[in-house]
Amino acid sequence: MLHEAMSKQLKIVAVAILVLAVFAVLIPGIRQSSAQEEGQYAGIEQCAMCHEDTVKAFQDSIHGQKGFALRSDKACESCHGPAAAHVEGGGDKTKIKSFASLNTQEKSDMCLGCHERGKKMFWMGSAHESRGLACQDCHSVHKPAVEKAQLKKKNQSQLCFDCHKQKEAQFFRPSHHPVKEGKMECTSCHNPHGTQTAKLLTADSVTEQCYQCHAEKRGPFLWEHVPVREDCTNCHEVHGSNRLKLLNAKEPFLCQRCHSDTRHPGTPYDETRVTQNRIAGHSCTNCHSTLHGSNHPSGHTFLR
Ligand code: HEC
Ligand code: HEC
Ligand code: HEC
Ligand code: HEC
Ligand code: HEC
Ligand code: HEC
Ligand code: HEC
Ligand code: HEC
Ligand code: HEC
Ligand code: HEC
Repeated sequence: MLHEAMSKQLKIVAVAILVLAVFAVLIPGIRQSSAQEEGQYAGIEQCAMCHEDTVKAFQDSIHGQKGFALRSDKACESCHGPAAAHVEGGGDKTKIKSFASLNTQEKSDMCLGCHERGKKMFWMGSAHESRGLACQDCHSVHKPAVEKAQLKKKNQSQLCFDCHKQKEAQFFRPSHHPVKEGKMECTSCHNPHGTQTAKLLTADSVTEQCYQCHAEKRGPFLWEHVPVREDCTNCHEVHGSNRLKLLNAKEPFLCQRCHSDTRHPGTPYDETRVTQNRIAGHSCTNCHSTLHGSNHPSGHTFLR
């Protein structure tokens, strides 16, 4: 009995010593690895020794100014992480946050720490974010083509056309919004960082978007034309069209898509008569000239 109890006590002591020993080895280990992760900052003067041109260009850019310094005193290392080890290693590439090795999320996180508000509020989940774009697909911190908004292309529309070829083709059609003429930009209607509205529109709906510049189409009208109030793209192709006035179909077909059953059908042949008098010129808007809405007391058929 006595022998058994002693060996039990011995076992407990042995286990206790073992546990202590393990801790003794682990604790300094934990400390050491966390010190490595935190890393040491080197400061921008160090970077200038080997990256002179980059540092000079950076100091002249928007991120070299006071506003940035107020958000972070770590200069280069705000984005590239602690770089003392990189400096000590004589520019060891493996000891610095290499841009090429970051995934999309990490690339954008580099910027979102300071730029998550304002126009960037709806970035997460936006069409561009969810299709794998990062901030750096459109912006360059070090080699922007233009200083304004640090874009990678001189021309904003060119930046967008690189990926949106179909839209580029549309803007070359005879009738188009004057984007390539430089009178407006894609961002006159879109926010590439994401919006609450579909298609990255900055207004609450397509129609609201159009009213911003074509306010006279808003009314109020005594007689409203339902499809106009509903959505301008019922008849217009916003970016560009081969028909007059950005129309998405030619008259009279434009109207006949919905009005097949008027008292003066748009079909040229009707029973025995060869032509219908009311469709002279085939243009419904020759007579229905106020189709966007009328304020005339007897304008319910948009003739005045
Ligand atoms: C002793 C010289 C030296 C110093 C000091 C130095 N670097 Fe470098 N750095 C290099 C060299 C060399 C490379 C590799 C260049 C190459 O291969 O194109 C490099 C590469 C880099 C890269 C690119 C890594 C990649 O993905 O290819 C970054 C970012 C960088 N340095 C940031 C910094 C920052 C920030 C500082 C200041 C804290 C700094 N460097 C200080 C020499 C230096
Ligand atoms: C606001 C974030 C940010 C800051 C601050 C910043 N960088 Fe960069 N750096 C980047 C990004 C993003 C890239 C990837 C290329 C690009 O987008 O221009 C990069 C790339 C680099 C490269 C790789 C070579 C190249 O041009 O592609 C070097 C070297 C570098 N940075 C050094 C520096 C130095 C030195 C500083 C400080 C003077 C600095 N960076 C400050 C974001 C930053
Ligand atoms: C430490 C904070 C910080 C980080 C990180 C940062 N920025 Fe900035 N950024 C600023 C400040 C401050 C300004 C100055 C504009 C202002 O006052 O709002 C600015 C301005 C800009 C501008 C506007 C330039 C203009 O013409 O108005 C762009 C574009 C920009 N940053 C892109 C980026 C990108 C891309 C990244 C990531 C690679 C990034 N920033 C990371 C703080 C930061
Ligand atoms: C699809 C291209 C694209 C992407 C992706 C993109 N931007 Fe932009 N960004 C632009 C354009 C174009 C402008 C100029 C907008 C204007 O003139 O109103 C701009 C403007 C800015 C500005 C300056 C104006 C402002 O909103 O205050 C900042 C800062 C900025 N972007 C940060 C970012 C950040 C951070 C990310 C990533 C989360 C990002 N951008 C992703 C195209 C893009
Ligand atoms: C006058 C306002 C306006 C301008 C300027 C504008 N857009 Fe649009 N865009 C719209 C509207 C409204 C829609 C949604 C209705 C539609 O698809 O026609 C849209 C839709 C889009 C779509 C989605 C199309 C689809 O089939 O889902 C893309 C991509 C697009 N625009 C790119 C661009 C690019 C790139 C530019 C600049 C070169 C540009 N837009 C300029 C108003 C505009
Ligand atoms: C690096 C490529 C790239 C660039 C640059 C780019 N886009 Fe896109 N854009 C995409 C992708 C990918 C989609 C998603 C297309 C899809 O889902 O069919 C998209 C979708 C869109 C949509 C439709 C959103 C929706 O909800 O359907 C609009 C609008 C748009 N982009 C506008 C722009 C504008 C404006 C610019 C320039 C400031 C721009 N894009 C630059 C790749 C790009
Ligand atoms: C940012 C301002 C702006 C917005 C928003 C806008 N437009 Fe325009 N729109 C213009 C300008 C500028 C013209 C060219 C006027 C000129 O050439 O005299 C134009 C011309 C037109 C034309 C006549 C084209 C022609 O060939 O004569 C139509 C139709 C049109 N816009 C429809 C729309 C529709 C539909 C929307 C909404 C999706 C819209 N616009 C949103 C500025 C805008
Ligand atoms: C039912 C079809 C239809 C709808 C819907 C429609 N339009 Fe039109 N729009 C036309 C036709 C047809 C023309 C060319 C005849 C003319 O000049 O009146 C035109 C011409 C225009 C023009 C150029 C001539 C002018 O009157 O200034 C603008 C701008 C315009 N529309 C804006 C809009 C806006 C904004 C909306 C949405 C609120 C809209 N349209 C909805 C059929 C339509
Ligand atoms: C997207 C469908 C659509 C298109 C395209 C369309 N309309 Fe209409 N239109 C309607 C609807 C819906 C009404 C309301 C019908 C009602 O109240 O019975 C209407 C009403 C009218 C009326 C008044 C009818 C009445 O009895 O008071 C006229 C006139 C008219 N449209 C002419 C046109 C012309 C001209 C065009 C071509 C420029 C056109 N519409 C294109 C849907 C359309
Ligand atoms: C020569 C002038 C003229 C032309 C062209 C014309 N209309 Fe009319 N439209 C009228 C007149 C006049 C009325 C009758 C108004 C009334 O009864 O108060 C009318 C009435 C209508 C009405 C409402 C009553 C009904 O008949 O259902 C619609 C819808 C309509 N037109 C659509 C069209 C369409 C679509 C086109 C083109 C295919 C067109 N109109 C071409 C003069 C014209």
